[in-house]
Amino acid sequence: MFTRHRRLRKNQVIRDMVRETTLNRKDFIYPVFVVEGENVKEEISSLENNYHYSIDRLHDVVDELKDAGVKSVILFGIPGYKDEVGTSAFEKNGIVQRAVRKLKELDPELFVITDVCMCEYTSHGHCGIVHDHEVDNDETIKYIAKIALSHAEAGADMVAPSDMMDGRVQAIRNTLDENSFKNVGIMAYSAKYCSAFYGPFRDAADSAPKFGNRKGYQMDPGNVREAMLEIEDDIKEGADIVMVKPAMAYLDVVRAARDRFDVPIATYNVSGEFAMVKSAAKAGLIDEKAIVKEMLTCMKRAGAGLIITYYAIDICRWIKEEGN
Ligand code: PBG
Repeated sequence: MFTRHRRLRKNQVIRDMVRETTLNRKDFIYPVFVVEGENVKEEISSLENNYHYSIDRLHDVVDELKDAGVKSVILFGIPGYKDEVGTSAFEKNGIVQRAVRKLKELDPELFVITDVCMCEYTSHGHCGIVHDHEVDNDETIKYIAKIALSHAEAGADMVAPSDMMDGRVQAIRNTLDENSFKNVGIMAYSAKYCSAFYGPFRDAADSAPKFGNRKGYQMDPGNVREAMLEIEDDIKEGADIVMVKPAMAYLDVVRAARDRFDVPIATYNVSGEFAMVKSAAKAGLIDEKAIVKEMLTCMKRAGAGLIITYYAIDICRWIKEEGN
């Protein structure tokens, strides 16, 4: 006696009926990179088919998002100047602050999340304030909170701290609440690993550290129990959504978090993952559309309800073509 599992795989209708995980256009968040200058829409060499936009060209990406049905973006800024304390990250008229205002003007319905970090804005490229070659945690979180507040003032719906300092979610929550931004949410990069998969992003955002590495603040890829502690703390400090990053090689972390916590979980399908798929597809080694659908489905199956991906526009178009 054995069970005929294949009965439920007999044709597409029954396969669709018993499918446990289905991608939906509302699952995706698209990363947008904004630069200074005028009339800039320049392909990012390390992230094919993704662009650096100047503020006056953001309407191009807004049109594409609308057409594809992508409802949410995460914003990254490449500022005009950098200094030791990342001043350009919290100016009222900084690149991200202007971009948020512009996006909200172009499409008030677009859900705008901002990446809150310092590495794009500091001359040394670290994610915080450096003293004696070390990132000073308690000093940094004051700046992180200030940056988050400036994004909220510009109109961001949600802020996403990616710096991996301890206590930053609490610092942000307190600052937002004290300044009447109680309804601005926090999506915390809670389990953010010190990963070689961020290489193409650092070229795109000009954010590679000028000395050392990020091992003193980002997590060790060998650890999953520690990720649970990070996530638990971020929830206690006030995170509305927690994130595991990178995605592909870290889906066990997503699953562990999904089984343990009841807040929404996001995962970031990072630049190195995107670049690997893109280059293998370009070399004719894999079927890009099939691989992307499979990869994103598996992220959702593992427990990620939200997925940040450079493929967001493509996948939403493909889902739309299929009539969903
Ligand atoms: C900023 C930040 C990084 C990414 C998102 N926010 C880079 C880093 O930590 O070095 C990586 C995104 C990607 O690789 O796609 N701290």
